Amino acid sequence: MRCRRGRIQERNKVEINLRSPVPKYYQLKEIIRDMIEKDELEAGQGIPPERELCERYGVSRMTARQAVMELVNEGLLYRVQGLGTFVAEEKVRQGTGRLTSFTQDMRDRGMEASSKIVGMKEDEAGPVVARMLRVDPGERIIRVRRVRNADGKPMALETSHLLYGVAKGILGVDLSGRSLYEELGKAGVRAAAAEQSYEAVLVNEAESEHLGVPIASPALLIERVTFDEAEKPFEYVKSVYRGDRYRVTTRLSS
Ligand code: GLP
Repeated sequence: MRCRRGRIQERNKVEINLRSPVPKYYQLKEIIRDMIEKDELEAGQGIPPERELCERYGVSRMTARQAVMELVNEGLLYRVQGLGTFVAEEKVRQGTGRLTSFTQDMRDRGMEASSKIVGMKEDEAGPVVARMLRVDPGERIIRVRRVRNADGKPMALETSHLLYGVAKGILGVDLSGRSLYEELGKAGVRAAAAEQSYEAVLVNEAESEHLGVPIASPALLIERVTFDEAEKPFEYVKSVYRGDRYRVTTRLSS
């Protein structure tokens, strides 16, 4: 595959203002956003590599990386491993967010995902889980609890409840270096849509141990119900993300 790469247009030079109180990464991010909005960088086109951004705007690698990473998180750009970073289609850009797995989310943020498995077992759905999965209480499910690491350090504690019929293939699979969604994908189950909520919480004792933060540290509770291609819910997940490590950015438009 050949990639079209965007060039920085020298004629419309916009510089980083070193004396501005606005952080440099933020200024660079807005410059790239502007290039996309003015179609100097088009959908599907690769953005200039980090090295070129550093040279052109006189910023450090870390600054360039942060600017690009935030635009990836906002859905304006997306990464393809080994190929580079590209401008997303308008439709994707203006959506409320891309449905990603933890593994993909971390990859987009430039980090590597791994997991420590706390538990994986067959169980029966209690009333809440049953309601979320739209099944009767007592239905067979699989409960998986994982500490999700990013670059080897705890990022979130995640408890997934999966319909047994859909997920039985994962029983016995070592998920510590694997993506649940990729494993389910092998069985033909694709996460096609999800409803997700966010809530500020303080970590309890068990969470504090798993996440390596003091009790009552701020955290973000993310709850997700995931639907397959037939719009049937197959997963209900509660994830507690460390407040000092995780941030959610969304792009809103009027
Ligand atoms: C996110 C979602 C979970 C989902 C998980 C899968 O964290 N909130 O609902 O189970 O991704 O991640 P992975 O495929 O990396 O195991």
